[in-house]
Amino acid sequence: MELRYEVFCKEQGVPRREERDGRDHDAMHLIAVRDGELLATCRLVFVGRTVQFTRLAVARPARRQGIARALLEAADRATLAGGANRIVLHAQTYARSLYDQAGYVARGQEFTEAGIRHLAMEKVL
Ligand SMILES: CC(C)(COP(=O)(O)OP(=O)(O)OC[C@H]1O[C@@H](n2cnc3c(N)ncnc32)[C@H](O)[C@@H]1OP(=O)(O)O)[C@@H](O)C(=O)NCCC(=O)NCCS
Repeated sequence: MELRYEVFCKEQGVPRREERDGRDHDAMHLIAVRDGELLATCRLVFVGRTVQFTRLAVARPARRQGIARALLEAADRATLAGGANRIVLHAQTYARSLYDQAGYVARGQEFTEAGIRHLAMEKVL
């Protein structure tokens, strides 16, 4: 939660009440840790055979080292292990290539959410 607050609220200006949407207790949380230090987090909410993937945040000093890519791969495995076969997400448009490279396809037009440009994307496993 601290890392999410740093990244989404302080860095990107998302209001705290939007960041805390009440879904954390229903979610599976994946984290990346190196030498005891938390480097990244993301969240999976299972809805039937579909996973909603949200709250991907990598600590600033740890960026561009492939950590988000590794978490997306871990999310694929966790989705299949949990009995689901499809992942949907709202990509921040600036980071779209992260998801393109991981096999996600865009659905529909760009839109603004929490003041940030997004694109709906999905991946069938
Ligand atoms: C977006 C974010 C999650 C990427 O994490 P990361 O661990 O640095 O990403 P990776 O190192 O795994 O990058 C994999 C690929 O994604 C793309 N990518 C990552 N960061 C990018 C950026 N800032 N701008 C454009 N493309 C980016 C690149 O194609 C990259 O491959 P390359 O490094 O070989 O060029 C991270 O910058 C972050 O936490 N940003 C703030 C929060 C945020 O925007 N989260 C939601 C994203 S939808």
